[in-house]
Amino acid sequence: MSAYNQLKERLATESYTWLITGVAGFIGSNLLEALLKLNQRIVGLDNFATGHQHNLDEVQSLVTPEQWANFNFIQGDIRNLEDCRKAIHFTPSPLAGEGAQSSVLSPQSSVDFVLHQAALGSVPRSIEDPINTNETNISGFLHMLVAARDAKVKRFVYAASSSTYGDHPDLPKVEDKIGKPLSPYAVTKLVNELYTDVFARTYGYKTIGLRYFNIFGKRQDPEGAYAAVIPKWISSLIKNEPVYINGDGETSRDFCYIENVVQINLLAATTDNPEAVNQVYNVAVGDQTTLNQLYEALRVNLAELYPHLVEAKPIYRDFRGGDVRHSLADISKSKSLLGYAPQYRIGEGLKEAMTWYVENN
Ligand SMILES: NC(=O)c1ccc[n+]([C@@H]2O[C@H](COP(=O)([O-])OP(=O)(O)OC[C@H]3O[C@@H](n4cnc5c(N)ncnc54)[C@H](O)[C@@H]3O)[C@@H](O)[C@H]2O)c1
Repeated sequence: MSAYNQLKERLATESYTWLITGVAGFIGSNLLEALLKLNQRIVGLDNFATGHQHNLDEVQSLVTPEQWANFNFIQGDIRNLEDCRKAIHFTPSPLAGEGAQSSVLSPQSSVDFVLHQAALGSVPRSIEDPINTNETNISGFLHMLVAARDAKVKRFVYAASSSTYGDHPDLPKVEDKIGKPLSPYAVTKLVNELYTDVFARTYGYKTIGLRYFNIFGKRQDPEGAYAAVIPKWISSLIKNEPVYINGDGETSRDFCYIENVVQINLLAATTDNPEAVNQVYNVAVGDQTTLNQLYEALRVNLAELYPHLVEAKPIYRDFRGGDVRHSLADISKSKSLLGYAPQYRIGEGLKEAMTWYVENN
């Protein structure tokens, strides 16, 4: 049985309290859905900077009322240390069905695990607005880390990024070989790793960083100037709007479906392997896909439903500053130390994602 299936069996009988920051965002809301379905207790923190109430509403519609009752939401900001402490010390009601008591703030107890997702994503946003990116992604991160350390939270798992590989030329990317960051966003994600490393040495505090590659799936925001390529292109194709490719289309990425990300977060939070902690891991599939290949896969699949796509062509424009040319992960460390076994390759993930965007168009 896979490590993930074993863990899911274990969680069926063991209940923990998890804090998900950025819970109203794409990855956060998918973590919320998965953990509620496993009958876990969740505290969520978000300031709706880029997340949406409709993501939380959708999760509510996908779980039972009893499972939803195990979720407590705090609207707050990680740039405010008190909001971070409040979320970490929030003691939810007992699991639904264990008896009615109201939720309380308790200085003695804390959540068991933190899955820290809150950040301002997007390389172009960080180039336009490095100060706000820095405040959320570095100061906000440090607040969460200090709050978790002070409360002796069992494990602090955080969203790192493949942008940390920067200008290092090697492919595939191996965790211990990084280059210079190519954007303010990449600087912030590298600083997160430096802080957790120093917290391990200085305070003996245990963390795990997950270097997400290009993640995609349901509830990823297709709107706005900083939307990620897959939701943006699916949405544009469906609406018969132009699709722009930055550069010649031979730029490549290791696209990773959200269910794989959920899996590795749960494995990282609960691992008993002492070798596995205070480490960073690639979160990807190990498949390289060019933007031209991605465009064709989306166009061909969606053309079955939208005949206007049979002849559709993308528009090529200049390369975008701050982007790396190729990205491909070596996932052997994630497999060997955490038991990560991605269940979705890009084609399977794209089918699931397209179905969701078509239904939610
Ligand atoms: N999606 C990807 O491909 C990808 C790749 C690498 C890393 N990441 C990282 O994964 C994490 C989640 O990304 P996502 O794609 O779900 O993005 P998202 O924008 O959908 O989610 C981020 C969430 O954080 C919240 N947030 C932002 N600033 C906050 C603040 N100051 N206080 C409280 N909440 C705040 C937003 O409102 C949003 O709900 C981020 O740390 C991101 O940098 C994502």
